[in-house]
Amino acid sequence: MVYTAIESILTGKFKGKKVDVHGWIYRKRESKDTTFLVIRDASGVIQTVVKKDSASWAAAEKAAIESSVIISGTVKEDKRAPGGFEINANRLEIVGLSETFPIAKDKSEEFLRDVRHLWLRSRRMNTIMKIRSEVLSYIREFFSKQKFVEVSPPMFISSAVEGGATLFGVKYFDDIMYLTQSSQLHLEVLIHSLEKVYCVAPSFRAEKSRTIRHLTEFWHVESEEAFSTLDDLMSLEEHLVSHVCQSTAKKCRKHLEALGLDPKELTKIKAPFPKVTYDEAIQRLNKQDFKIQWGEDFGFNEERALTQEAGGPTFVFAYPKKIRAFYVKAYPDRPEVVMSADLLVPRIGELSTGGARVDDKQEILHNLLESGLRPEDYEWYIDLRRYGTVPHTGFGMGVERLLTWMLNLESIFDSIPFPRTTRRSYP
Ligand code: 4AD
Ligand code: MG
Repeated sequence: MVYTAIESILTGKFKGKKVDVHGWIYRKRESKDTTFLVIRDASGVIQTVVKKDSASWAAAEKAAIESSVIISGTVKEDKRAPGGFEINANRLEIVGLSETFPIAKDKSEEFLRDVRHLWLRSRRMNTIMKIRSEVLSYIREFFSKQKFVEVSPPMFISSAVEGGATLFGVKYFDDIMYLTQSSQLHLEVLIHSLEKVYCVAPSFRAEKSRTIRHLTEFWHVESEEAFSTLDDLMSLEEHLVSHVCQSTAKKCRKHLEALGLDPKELTKIKAPFPKVTYDEAIQRLNKQDFKIQWGEDFGFNEERALTQEAGGPTFVFAYPKKIRAFYVKAYPDRPEVVMSADLLVPRIGELSTGGARVDDKQEILHNLLESGLRPEDYEWYIDLRRYGTVPHTGFGMGVERLLTWMLNLESIFDSIPFPRTTRRSYP
């Protein structure tokens, strides 16, 4: 049987016509001789009207909120109905009768997280999940246009990428392996044949932080590009973010408005973004009464202050070597500073980290030892510096941070269907 999507009925093209819809009962209101059932499907909601003299009256009376149903009827224009159209039902079939649905109005955030598997049916979560899907497609569209090849790196890894403190160990037969924190090192392998690669894959962090920007499992957009510079990288990132924001503003207008957002806000996000060095950022912060010394890392508050001043996304680059990872390349004329760049956005702070990679064998060996890592755990990574090394850059950006910022979400939890945190791994 072919069912009509509610969204297409609301365009008006089925006015006066018979339709079959399927979905779930979203709202129910009864009067003496009429039952109004608001039905939701994936695409939208529509009111259906069942009259007492119809054969479906008994089913309509029985149908509780969230029961799944199939309805046949005639589409009628009615200005009073939400969306301007309703269905006069002449057949109502209950597919799965619902028990009393636990979510009614005004439930606490905590409760909604306990019943996440049911809360995902809400209009709000439905809309966010659709935008998330679109955003992922714009990311892929952008990289594909730039001739990057999408690759699929492993999630089980044998050595750390981003430091031991946030590694999840996994029993792997008789061994211990880890869940990847970043696919960067494996992407670096692939540039030696494909030159420009990217992935959209999960990353895992045993992150104790309980903030609006931390998950223990997040989706990571990462790219690596052979024969590229830090300037190339920042340009790539700002054009990616612009492309995603512009496309979302243009193609997801209705979804944005349903979330109470003005698409114009995203239209304002356009490359190029301001770029300041770490040195300049320190000066600016100290002018604003932050007491921060050269060499210290920025926290949430510092990052927020910097983006507030910029009025939008802004890059900070050229960080002190000692606060960056072992793989970041130093400036030849200033070895205590490295070619690393963070993209910061208002409210969230860090949206991405990227940089130029060490491409010299001796330097990577030196950095591994200096970071307390064992070179024998990184043999294959060092091999890349033995056999035809190239200058290269890459970055990583959390999809959930991107969405939390773009959609002005209160917490990162709403940007992903099943958020994983220190305190939550259910459902
Ligand atoms: O800054 P991070 O740790 O950098 C890396 O992992 C690099 N290896 C990336 C690369 O160059 N390929 O993580 C990169 C981004 C962060 O800027 C943030 O957007 C996201 O990943 N991220 C998280 N998102 C949600 N929850 C967490 N716990 C996150 N940790 C990092
Ligand atoms: Mg970072």
